This record gives sequence, C-alpha cells and structure tokens, in this order.
Amino acid sequence: MTEVLAHPAIATTPVLAPREPPPIQGAGAPMISARKIARRVHKLGQEISEQYAGLDQPLVLVVILKGAAVFAADLLRSLSIPAELEFVRASSYGSSTSSTGKVKFAHMVDGPLTGRHLLLVEDIVDSGRTINVIVRKLRSHRPASVKLAALLDRPARREEPVDIHFTGFVIPDRFVIGYGLDYAGLYRELPAIYSLG
Ligand code: IMP
Ligand code: MG
Repeated sequence: MTEVLAHPAIATTPVLAPREPPPIQGAGAPMISARKIARRVHKLGQEISEQYAGLDQPLVLVVILKGAAVFAADLLRSLSIPAELEFVRASSYGSSTSSTGKVKFAHMVDGPLTGRHLLLVEDIVDSGRTINVIVRKLRSHRPASVKLAALLDRPARREEPVDIHFTGFVIPDRFVIGYGLDYAGLYRELPAIYSLG
C-alpha cells in the first residue's frame, strides 16, 4: 500500500490539517487568498484577450519556469483567444539568495519566434534583472512584440526599470511562497500566497 506522507511543513505540527499554511510564517492568514488570486487572474486573462484580439497568429505565452507554471496554467485557461505555450528556464547564479544579474538558460523556447507576438509570464519581478535578460534574449529572435505579465510586482527591491504590461498584485517587501512560488524548492503547491517573514 502507498504511504501518504504529510507535507514537510506541516509534518511537525499535527494540529494543522493538510492544505493549511506552513508554520514558518506563523500559520497566519495568507497575504493573497486563493479566491483573490483566481479573480485577478481571470480578469488579467480578459484584459489580455481584449488587447490581443484579432491577431493573425496565436499569441505565444512564454512561461518562465519554474515559478510561473501555476500562474500560466490558470492564465492560459482564462484567455478567449488562441495561444501557444513556450517555456524558458533561466536561473541566476551567484553567492546569495538575491539575483546577481548573471543568468544562464537551462532551456530556451522550441518554436521559431520571429514575427510572433510574445507574452512573457513571470511569477514575480523583484530586482528586475532576470526578466530584463530574458527580454533581451527573446528580442534577438525578432518577434513582432514582447510584453510581460507578472503575477506579483515587488517594486521595493527594483534595481533595473521593468515594463510590466499586466500586473496581478503589487506586494510589499516580503519574501513570498505558494501558487508556484518556492522557498528552497518547496511550497509551490500551496493554493494561496503567504509571506515568509
Ligand atoms: P529578480 O531577477 O531579482 O527580479 O528575481 C526574480 C526571480 O527570483 C523570480 O522569477 C523568482 O523566481 C525569484 N523570486 C524573487 N522573489 C521571490 C519570492 O519572494 N519568492 C519566491 N521566488 C522569488
Ligand atoms: Mg522565477
């Protein structure tokens, strides 16, 4: 028989039922509830569909792995226009948790992007370095346009200006997890967004 393991964050706190927030952040209320996220993502889908209505080719959603996977899956299903999916896996490397501006690509899109309308889908824009490197790289493919949809914008830590065309939520200067966002690879499965401090 398959043994069902408890979520690592709640395994040490038996009073918490599965799907409740991890105790790290004090088991408080989410910063952004699942219901609020769903409403906002649906609205973004409508706005994007209106802005790109009438394209002669499907819009290309370029999903930035891994954090944006959950957001992108919901956003895609909120669109009422045809869309294709491409993926980029970029990781900044360096000594600390903040990004260094050195970005390496573990995966680049498969399909040709020349003449296509690209909508980048990102989980959170922090310093802005990662997204700007990706935008520059994608522009070298000579697309018809490049725009950005970011679920979260944390302007307090911005180091480079970034044009975000579709923003889910502007958040304060807190590290966040859930709805695709991780801490050390964990907590992506949480349906709401929680602050870690
Ligand atoms: P930037 O290059 O500093 O803008 O870093 C953006 C990337 O760092 C995002 O794509 C996330 O993968 C990651 N990141 C930044 N802040 C957070 C956070 O609060 N929680 C989880 N991941 C984050
Ligand atoms: Mg990311």
